[in-house]
Amino acid sequence: MPFLWPDGFTRVPEEPWTKQQVDALALNYDTVENHGWYSNLDHTVEQIGEYARRGDILIDYSGGTGILAKRLLDRLGAREVGIIIVDSSPKFPRLALEKFRDEPRMAFRRIRYLNDESRLERVDEVLGPAILARVAEWYEFLSVYHEGVLGWIGGAEKVTGAAAPEDVFGDRLEIMRTAMDRVFNDAFEFGASWTYITCELRA
Ligand SMILES: C[S@@+](CC[C@H](N)C(=O)[O-])C[C@H]1O[C@@H](n2cnc3c(N)ncnc32)[C@H](O)[C@@H]1O
Repeated sequence: MPFLWPDGFTRVPEEPWTKQQVDALALNYDTVENHGWYSNLDHTVEQIGEYARRGDILIDYSGGTGILAKRLLDRLGAREVGIIIVDSSPKFPRLALEKFRDEPRMAFRRIRYLNDESRLERVDEVLGPAILARVAEWYEFLSVYHEGVLGWIGGAEKVTGAAAPEDVFGDRLEIMRTAMDRVFNDAFEFGASWTYITCELRA
């Protein structure tokens, strides 16, 4: 089955930049993919290759001409994972579009500069409301960290050396859920775009 984007999501937006000529500078830039320093992507590619599951959507922010995207597609094989290149310059994603036009798992977005507000668009504005996360799922994920976040209720085992009394777990989870409902204004879902940065100590 081919990768399915959320309803209403367009892979290639109907925007002038998608029809402009491919820029020589972008073509030139794209040749850097063969440079040795791009081995710095190895770890990221491996990690994403490990955890990306069918139906996931990855956002390659400042994805340029799609050097990381290509590496990821190679690593993912036929896995049904979507990749969106989001970039502020039209010329780089224009080349990415040329390279991946026929790859149904790739999508492209350009961040525009909003003159009236003197700022670039945010990622959620560029992607539109189609990519949403459920508050309940986010809560399930975060609740794993109840001791780290709310260890002051009942004490954190790491600090006290003793397991917290059973009855505090419910209190911690209730507080987390209440806090999330407040933060998200009781919404069912929210626009989700987040960043992972993995750092390693230099050997
Ligand atoms: C040096 S290139 C790297 C591209 C790609 N990540 C790679 O490794 O090949 C930097 C990219 O960042 C983009 N960029 C610059 N400012 C940006 C911004 N404020 N928001 C998003 N992308 C931006 C540029 O258009 C360009 O594609």
